[in-house]
Amino acid sequence: MAGAGAYLIVVGNEKGGSGKTTTTMHVVIALLRMGFRVGTIDIDGRQKSLSRYMENRWRMIAETKRKLGVSEHRVIVRSKLADPAAAAADEQQRLTAALEEFSARQDFIVVDCPGSENPLVRLAHTFADTVITPINDSMMDIDLIVELDSRGEVRAPGIYAEMVWEQRQERLKTHGSGLDWVVMRNRLTQIGDSNKRMIADRLDGVSKLLGFRLAVGLSERVIYRQLFLAGLTILDLQDPDLAVKETPSHLAARQEVKDLIRALRLPKLDSRLERL
Ligand SMILES: Nc1ncnc2c1ncn2[C@@H]1O[C@H](COP(=O)(O)OP(=O)(O)O)[C@@H](O)[C@H]1O
Ligand SMILES: [Mg+2]
Repeated sequence: MAGAGAYLIVVGNEKGGSGKTTTTMHVVIALLRMGFRVGTIDIDGRQKSLSRYMENRWRMIAETKRKLGVSEHRVIVRSKLADPAAAAADEQQRLTAALEEFSARQDFIVVDCPGSENPLVRLAHTFADTVITPINDSMMDIDLIVELDSRGEVRAPGIYAEMVWEQRQERLKTHGSGLDWVVMRNRLTQIGDSNKRMIADRLDGVSKLLGFRLAVGLSERVIYRQLFLAGLTILDLQDPDLAVKETPSHLAARQEVKDLIRALRLPKLDSRLERL
């Protein structure tokens, strides 16, 4: 637990473009729609994609007066202090303050990470109750989780898996409990090619060794890209006042988001899952 009460979810992977921000937004809106209070923290202070997504949502609400759920949002930027130790202390102080503040009044806190590690990313992982790692179906993405040889045999843990392992040990020391690490595949194509099967096999095979659970995740769908500008998620499209004519692809997308939320096994969800 990050503090008094809030449950902390960190969405991370040492890879840009793997779907962290898209996943974060969908998890946040799912929690809000289930009636939870949610605090969000963008620690990708350079791209600020989650903050841009939220701004688009606030603008949509202001312009249309629609009743859409919103999180309480913060951005934590990297420290500008020149001395590395002072910079790390400054970042730690600001992230910890935001977590403590949110812990007092939110049910969940969701942190969206940048695509490369830094002290803020490490710190967020040591506080995490659940880490969600979206990966694209490519060997380059898998390499960050597990290094394979040319025959697809395991050589070593990938750099991101090493980082999660270290932060998990750190967390055991400081919090006395482990974290739940969920790796999810993103941008899955509908075609059942051999690359896709090999990736599923390999991830399945190493999940115990590296300490993660594998969730199927999200398919490649244009709708996920289109929703950013409106500040919406696939879950919002079912609201009658939006008057969107939903396609079978929308319905399938909503189902996969629901399946993902269920697979996360978050606390306090129970029958609230039906509200999605
Ligand atoms: N399942 C998906 N289907 C289609 N496009 C996706 C999907 N997930 C993410 N994208 C798109 O891929 C790009 C990178 O996603 P993003 O969530 O910003 O990744 P990250 O935060 O890891 O950099 C964005 O343009 C996003 O809209
Ligand atoms: Mg991002």
